[in-house]
Amino acid sequence: MKSFLQEVSVGLSKKNKKLSSKWFYDFHGSILFEKITKLREYYPTRTERKILKNNKIEIAKKIGKNAVLIEPGAGDIKKISIFMSTLDEPKKYIPLDISKDYITKVSKGFKKKFPKVTVIPKGYDFSRDNKLPFKINSSENVTIFFPGSTIGNFEKKDAIKFLRMLKSKFKAKKIIVGADLVKDIPTLISAYDDKKGITAKFNKNILQRINTELGGNINLNSYKHLVIYNKSKKRIEMRLKSTKNNNIKINGSKYLIKKNEEIHTENSHKYSIKSFKKLANEAGWNIGKTWVDEKKLFSVHFLDLA
Ligand code: AVI
Repeated sequence: MKSFLQEVSVGLSKKNKKLSSKWFYDFHGSILFEKITKLREYYPTRTERKILKNNKIEIAKKIGKNAVLIEPGAGDIKKISIFMSTLDEPKKYIPLDISKDYITKVSKGFKKKFPKVTVIPKGYDFSRDNKLPFKINSSENVTIFFPGSTIGNFEKKDAIKFLRMLKSKFKAKKIIVGADLVKDIPTLISAYDDKKGITAKFNKNILQRINTELGGNINLNSYKHLVIYNKSKKRIEMRLKSTKNNNIKINGSKYLIKKNEEIHTENSHKYSIKSFKKLANEAGWNIGKTWVDEKKLFSVHFLDLA
């Protein structure tokens, strides 16, 4: 598996320059993302929270008794609290996040709030780490909680792989997953290009990390935050556009980013209920129930193996 340096060096050597969005999330990037979730323009978080709140009894029924809840890419772990107290004697909660420091810190508050549930926070990069950092008993009621439309950040083929892997490796029997819905383009664009410029900072955090962690000499002011909607792929794409010829040096290697050249940093796929069903079915999952908000901005699906 490749390190940050290897991935950056491969990504910046390509004709179409590319860096993976997973590198946004160091401690600082996670704080920036938390800020994004509170922005007026960024509707997904508050809408999903509302859906979870309005349907928590039904969600708890679907999950059932003695759940072992695993949350990959748990972030600020606020969403699980919405239905935690309605669950029937939940056994364990295992929040996983690429930033170990961050997940360990935020888990402390959860432990205080739900003292009866065993909480096992782990630093885990599900795109790279092979071995699970905890034991799973396949007879347990393993339920994956994957909110926020993080599934949308995967290419479709990787989303299918991921959903299959939850079954084979995590021994998941059920999944609660959030998916952002296809909608009008201006609403989508402004959600990723907010007026306060927080998303721009979040996007540029990847360059900041190259500087601080890999000894890069990138001038962040020479790049512009760019957001486009790719109609055929039904996804938001975030890019960093170079405003001048930039010769950069990272760990002894040189790269030229030409004026107006773009570095593709993130995809955020939008699904209709139908296209998400197709995706889940291809991965071997059945959609047992779908909840949406009244404006049809966001969806939460319950997947099972029946
Ligand atoms: C984490 N993920 C679901 C966010 C999204 O909406 O795709 C990441 C994000 N990127 C820019 N704003 C938010």
